[in-house]
Amino acid sequence: MELEIKLYGDEVLRKKSDIIVDFNDDIKILANQMIEKCHKDYGVGLAAPQIGKSIRMFVLSIPPEDDLDSSDYNNFYEEVFINPIITQKKGKEKNEEGCLSIPGIYEVVERYKYINIEYQDINGEKKEIDNASGLLARAMQHEIDHLDGILFIDRLPVLKKSMVQKKIMKKFKRSENF
Ligand code: CO
Repeated sequence: MELEIKLYGDEVLRKKSDIIVDFNDDIKILANQMIEKCHKDYGVGLAAPQIGKSIRMFVLSIPPEDDLDSSDYNNFYEEVFINPIITQKKGKEKNEEGCLSIPGIYEVVERYKYINIEYQDINGEKKEIDNASGLLARAMQHEIDHLDGILFIDRLPVLKKSMVQKKIMKKFKRSENF
């Protein structure tokens, strides 16, 4: 069964997700379905709250830097991140972002340029990535935000955010009423 993306206005997107302690088959199946959903919807990342699961897991499916339109997934960087924590952050960088939960909206967001993260993989093994940069660092920050109920439009200047919220309302008739 294909996963259904929860859209802006859904309460689950605003909840702080729970730590994962049990690395069971259900988690593995879900992670695979989330990667498949990225392929289907051309997403570089997807966080569990976006499919209605309030747990600290996200997946990335990032095309090679020199071939961003590639659909040969063998060349993609794909990984499942569980209980991720940013341990270091350095510099700032602005770039455009979008989100499968806020379709059709793209805005320039300021993020840390370099980050280190610690996480557990799908088997519960501890891993770390040092000095992530570019799209990888940006996608990781975007997805970790989802686990804390934060959307990329929250990272915009206040005035810009309210303009975008109006735009979403006009375009999709969706707002947050909770
Ligand atoms: Co998103």
